[in-house]
Amino acid sequence: MLFGKTKGLVGLDIGSSSVKLVELKPLSKTGRSWKLMNLGVAPLSPEAIVDGSIMDSTMVVDAIVRLFNESKIKTSDVAIAVSGHSVIIKKITMAYMSDDELSESIMWEAESYIPFDIDDVHLDYQILNDVDRGDGNMDVLLVAAKKEKVSEYVSVVQQAGKNPVVVDVDSFALQNSLTENYELSELQVTALVNIGASVMNINILQGGTSIFWRDISIGGNLYTDAIQKELGVDYDTAEMLKRGESAAGVSFERVAPILKSVTGDLGVEVQKTFDFFKATTSADRINRIFLSGGGSRILNLDTYLSERFEAPVEMLNPFQNVSISDKQFNPQTIQDLRASCSIAVGLAMRKPGDK
Ligand SMILES: Nc1ncnc2c1ncn2[C@@H]1O[C@H](COP(=O)(O)OP(=O)(O)OP(=O)(O)O)[C@@H](O)[C@H]1O
Ligand SMILES: [Mg+2]
Repeated sequence: MLFGKTKGLVGLDIGSSSVKLVELKPLSKTGRSWKLMNLGVAPLSPEAIVDGSIMDSTMVVDAIVRLFNESKIKTSDVAIAVSGHSVIIKKITMAYMSDDELSESIMWEAESYIPFDIDDVHLDYQILNDVDRGDGNMDVLLVAAKKEKVSEYVSVVQQAGKNPVVVDVDSFALQNSLTENYELSELQVTALVNIGASVMNINILQGGTSIFWRDISIGGNLYTDAIQKELGVDYDTAEMLKRGESAAGVSFERVAPILKSVTGDLGVEVQKTFDFFKATTSADRINRIFLSGGGSRILNLDTYLSERFEAPVEMLNPFQNVSISDKQFNPQTIQDLRASCSIAVGLAMRKPGDK
């Protein structure tokens, strides 16, 4: 995570189509097991956040206030995440040095890897192998997020009267919800693909360790736009049609080919990223794909990706290690929301001292 400490915090994922809130209670100090305390989703109209920028902060503040009012959350401490072009994640190799030396020189080092002015970013880093590996070098994970973007998101949380104690990155929060819920074999390469409304986050892991990250500025909106354009319907109708719901008397036979064609375009983008991944790492195949995000619920997207990449595709269940009371939460609602909630769950699963 970029900065901050964690203790009894609420995961708040401020997405462009909705704000998601998750509160979990750890059931044991060491084990990976939780209880779901609160879960809420507040929809946002498409004008509120455009291309990752908060355009109408009142709408976002209201959504956060509403989510807290609807729940009985006592803490005000919140973990949020940023993503998209204002976040740069890089693994760099540099001459071996001690922690202290690194903390002094990282700004200088980072300068050559980050396409922004170093004064405009929050910088964080983590040494990936802290023992000298023999060639006198070490790998360092470098994360830079534009201050402007971070303060935009921090500000809406503060205006809602809450305290943003952690600012994470979508891709890392997502990874956390995978590794806290699943056992990954050390020999396998797993791709995690989160499809939101406007951003697709791809995080590829070797065993439990992440080795590749990319955010692409496309998502479920592609389907909505195409349906609107091809069928001449408004946004709300297109949103319903893409979920397979009936609206404006349009039959699903007219919607299905549009979904199929957009899925092909999305597949091309995933392919480019996977090809780039294979070209720049020692891995030559992806063994397993996990999907999450509301956009991954498009009919047959999972089958399509599985055939295209010849790998098993499954929907990430962020609640695999979370016990959920049927009395408190409607199982059907949980089923419907779980794709959209992976990042909020990953944030809520942050532990003190996590990095
Ligand atoms: N049942 C469904 N079938 C198809 N698409 C769906 C379904 N439910 C939600 N979506 C789509 O999922 C997207 C929202 O997903 P999600 O909540 O993960 O995004 P977000 O976090 O708000 O956006 P972003 O992270 O891109 O800013 C929207 O495009 C929405 O239309
Ligand atoms: Mg999102």
